[in-house]
Order: sequence, then structure tokens, then C-alpha cells
Amino acid sequence: MYFLAFEGLDGSGKSSLMKSLEAELKQKNISFIQTREPGGTVLGEKLRHLILEKSNSAPLPRAELLMYEASRAQLVDELVKPALAQKKWVLTDRFSASSLAFQGHARGIGWEKVHALNQFATEGLKPDLTILLDLTVEESEKRRFHREKKNNIQADRIESENREFHEKVRQGFLKAAAEESTHWIVLDAAQTPEMLFNILFNELKKRKWLN
Ligand code: TMP
Repeated sequence: MYFLAFEGLDGSGKSSLMKSLEAELKQKNISFIQTREPGGTVLGEKLRHLILEKSNSAPLPRAELLMYEASRAQLVDELVKPALAQKKWVLTDRFSASSLAFQGHARGIGWEKVHALNQFATEGLKPDLTILLDLTVEESEKRRFHREKKNNIQADRIESENREFHEKVRQGFLKAAAEESTHWIVLDAAQTPEMLFNILFNELKKRKWLN
């Protein structure tokens, strides 16, 4: 069993790539769970709402970070560790690296502080592989606007940050990937969903995690 985290800017295609992998695992009769951050547990979903809502009592950056970490701690103990103990694969839409990129880098809290809090929240549990779907901020915005229009939804509090913020998020992810390159793969998210799944599938075969 393996623990996989999917990271990237909004609209980078994390969900569709996760769905393709889930279909493959199902077809191979491999047990897995899929989850997301913030969220995944009852407490985590409540925190998600508090973090992402646009209100006039928006959390300041330190409070925001601690809420993400609280959601993470709950998820790790309630869902991720038990699933791995039952030999299930775990696929998560975002994990610790999002805090490094968004709060550590883009909000400017600092890499080391976020590293330390990630460590505290997860008790050192790290994904076996983090898949970064790297996309330009322009393309991410285009896809997000399209989705908002199509589904008649509005950008949440984090999505509403400006371009400069999202550029820093992108750079933060690339920095995190470079720091731990053996546990990361960086995919060019401008490719088609089929191409992205093929690259991921070949990577998992190369690692002998799938055949
Ligand atoms: P999602 O919409 O991809 O589920 O993620 C919710 C938003 O929260 C997204 O804009 C990224 C952001 N985020 C952080 O800023 N820090 C974190 O640690 C996590 C997990 C997500």
C-alpha cells in the first residue's frame, strides 16, 4: 500500500487524475481510500468551511495555517494511518506541501515554521509520492473562470487571492518538489488527462507499485 498526495494550483487537474488512478486500482482489486485537505473528517470539513468562506472575520495567516494543520492532524489519525495499517492505498487531494506553498511561501510565514508544524500535525508521516501538477497561473485562472461559469459557483477566499500570490504558490510547490525529488514527480499539467495518467501509471510501474 502506498500513500499518494496530489498537489497543484486550482484547476490543475488533480481530481481527474485521481479519478483515473482510482479506476485503475478498482480494476486491479486494490483497496484504497481517497480523501482531501482541508477536510476528509467531520472536523476537517467544518474547518474547511471556516477556512474557505468569504466573511468579514477572515483568519489571519497564522490562524489560517493552524486550521489547515488541525484538519491535517485529524485526518492523519482518523483516516490515513488506519487505512495504511489495513494495507489500503491512500490518495489525497492536497497534503502538507500545500501548507508549505500557500502559507509558507505565498503568505510569507516561512518555510521552516511550516515544516515544523507539518511535522507536528502528521507526526512525521509523509506521502510515499507527491504528484505535482504544474501549471502556469494564467492557465489555472482560465480553467477556474471556466469552471465557475459552467457550474455557477464563486471563487473561495484562497482562490480569490491575486495573481502574484498564486505565482508564489506555484514557485513554492516547485521548491518543495526540488527539496525531496525522489518522493515527488512534477507533471506538466497542460497535457491531456490521458497523457497525464499514462505518465503517472508508468511511474508507478517503474517503482513496482503497480504492474
Ligand atoms: P481545494 O479547493 O483544492 O480542495 O483546496 C482548498 C484551498 O485551500 C486551495 O485553494 C488550497 C488551499 N490550501 C492551503 O492554502 N493550505 C493547505 O495546507 C491546504 C491543504 C490547502
